[in-house]
Amino acid sequence: MRLKSKKIILGITGSIAAYKAAVLLRLLVKEGAEVQVVITPAGKEFITPVTLSALSGKPVISEFFAQGAGSWNSHVDLGLWADAMIVAPATASTIGKMANGIADNMLITTYLSAKCPVFVAPAMDLDMFAHPTTQQNLRTLKSFGNFVIEPATGELASGLSGKGRMEEPEIIVEELISFFDGKLQLTGKKFLVTAGPTREKIDAVRFISNYSSGKMGYAIAEELANRGAKVVLVSGPVNIKPVNGNIQLIRVESAEEMYDQCISVFPACNGAVMNAAVADYTPETPESKKVKKEKNDWELKLVSTKDIALELGKIKTPAQVLVGFALETDNELANAAKKLEQKNLDFIVLNSLNDNGAGFQTDTNKITILGKDNIPLFFELKNKAEVASDIVDKIVSILK
Ligand code: CTP
Repeated sequence: MRLKSKKIILGITGSIAAYKAAVLLRLLVKEGAEVQVVITPAGKEFITPVTLSALSGKPVISEFFAQGAGSWNSHVDLGLWADAMIVAPATASTIGKMANGIADNMLITTYLSAKCPVFVAPAMDLDMFAHPTTQQNLRTLKSFGNFVIEPATGELASGLSGKGRMEEPEIIVEELISFFDGKLQLTGKKFLVTAGPTREKIDAVRFISNYSSGKMGYAIAEELANRGAKVVLVSGPVNIKPVNGNIQLIRVESAEEMYDQCISVFPACNGAVMNAAVADYTPETPESKKVKKEKNDWELKLVSTKDIALELGKIKTPAQVLVGFALETDNELANAAKKLEQKNLDFIVLNSLNDNGAGFQTDTNKITILGKDNIPLFFELKNKAEVASDIVDKIVSILK
């Protein structure tokens, strides 16, 4: 009974996968949850309220008004009652209405009134799922802090095969349980994350930079925010945007601007993850105008920038966690250990440019975590979201 006395709204919409909602409902009840079903008019074409009320032990709500009795169903009371709301299956239409506040049925008004965490399990044909509108709406829902339970890939009702099948009820229940078990273990905590490259101006139109895409740093910011933390993401110029509404983005360009922001934000944080590829050198005297090609040669004098991680390491309190990265090409572990010590980090995440699929621009990464005990923890090649989860797990264990 892992969901004992949890109050859950199960929203069901008009998809073939509505038959799976009966199984989901049964599993929730078996785990001890009290479930109120809210079904859309289209949902009732796919599964009968009689089945659902028998399984939940409560009348199913669908209309604003209870037929005949003259009383109305209060979506506000319902929204406040619940500990969680699950919309499963969620059609493209319902997702669109949720994202845009089109409150034309009881399910959407309940959603808009709900103060609890909301989980959405999409179910639709592969092309509908892949359509930019659907993807945009799902991003919008995530930006509200809602949790999207990604559909699985497999056979679809249309006869086609692809991504769009509602996730299996067993998995949805497990996600809910792990959520209540403390997936939101970072609620009330605040983190600074740096990401992306910096740009060091040479003249009015030119700069020195590097290949950092920001993907790893943004994935870490998302993971921290998904676990309930507030995140200040100080980012150099990149082509990605944060999704979770708990991420505050501060855009900077130069190493100096990044330093200024970090120094002012860090003292109020529980920790910082220094993922940015900060320039180590900057032109001593950038030209304010564009340099013309009349010159035969152009010698640049570069001077050191401030090492942001090192400076934060100096002011770090024992309660704060400081995480650094090291991108190395040789003597990887020894170099990482040196940086760990010099910068007073709690742990350092090492990427080797010798590993295929690791480093700049890729969607994957292969890391080694080196902590104060100096025992390296090796991880497999994973996508950056999974790598971010491993890193955040380590942060959580240190904060405990
Ligand atoms: N870092 C930083 N500010 C700098 C340089 C680096 O905050 N001016 C941080 C990076 O974000 C990373 C860690 O320090 O977390 C290590 O960065 P890396 O570039 O691997 O090492 P450096 O200290 O710059 O040393 P080197 O370039 O000699 O390897």
